[in-house]
Amino acid sequence: MPKRYMWMNDGDNKMTDKSYEIKNKNLRLVKVDTDNFYELSLLSVNDDQKGFVADNVFSLALAYATVAEGRFAQAFGIYDGDTPVGFVMIGFNNVFGCKDEVPDFIKNNYLIWRFMIDKKYQKKGYGKDGVKLVLDYIRTFPAGKAEYCWLSYEPENETARELYRFFGFKEREDYYYEGYEMPAVLKL
Ligand SMILES: CC(C)(COP(=O)(O)OP(=O)(O)OC[C@H]1O[C@@H](n2cnc3c(N)ncnc32)[C@H](O)[C@@H]1OP(=O)(O)O)[C@@H](O)C(=O)NCCC(=O)NCCS
Repeated sequence: MPKRYMWMNDGDNKMTDKSYEIKNKNLRLVKVDTDNFYELSLLSVNDDQKGFVADNVFSLALAYATVAEGRFAQAFGIYDGDTPVGFVMIGFNNVFGCKDEVPDFIKNNYLIWRFMIDKKYQKKGYGKDGVKLVLDYIRTFPAGKAEYCWLSYEPENETARELYRFFGFKEREDYYYEGYEMPAVLKL
């Protein structure tokens, strides 16, 4: 059986992000602006992770284009105090502008997008803390009320699968297409 089918939608998650306590107390999200975009563009992942997330510069260009077309995208640096350690975007609704009907978990719901922790700062708990911060922010409903948060990852990205599953994201294998990313959904 391919490894990606190891985690089924078994609903056995004991942890929820609502009860998770942030370990890096100075971790915060900072909106990308003209002051910080350069230092955030320098963050990068390990070579063997490069297929899992685009360069931050490319992601920022996509965020700009998305907003320019009238859709919702926000980009953030993840900072430990004043040190930039990661990057993440959020989207809302039909963020890719699909002409076809989109699944219910996408329609009027939030997307966590392009999440990365710089290679120097991985495995220190920033990933988990970062997801918690983003979910807390999404629950302020900056683009409107929503029922779900969704995201997607390469099926072989075991670290991402483990991380999101920890917080209760459930894979939607019914929307998985060979060669594409695996979507996973959390009820807000
Ligand atoms: C995924 C990513 C954000 C995790 O960041 P991180 O700061 O290393 O995460 P944490 O230190 O909080 O670890 C989170 C959990 O991931 C899992 N994990 C971490 N490193 C792992 C590894 N090498 N193998 C398997 N699981 C691993 C563990 O479950 C860990 O939790 P635990 O230590 O409490 O058991 C980071 O690896 C990354 O940026 N990867 C490249 C980009 C990417 O894949 N982004 C997701 C795209 S959707």
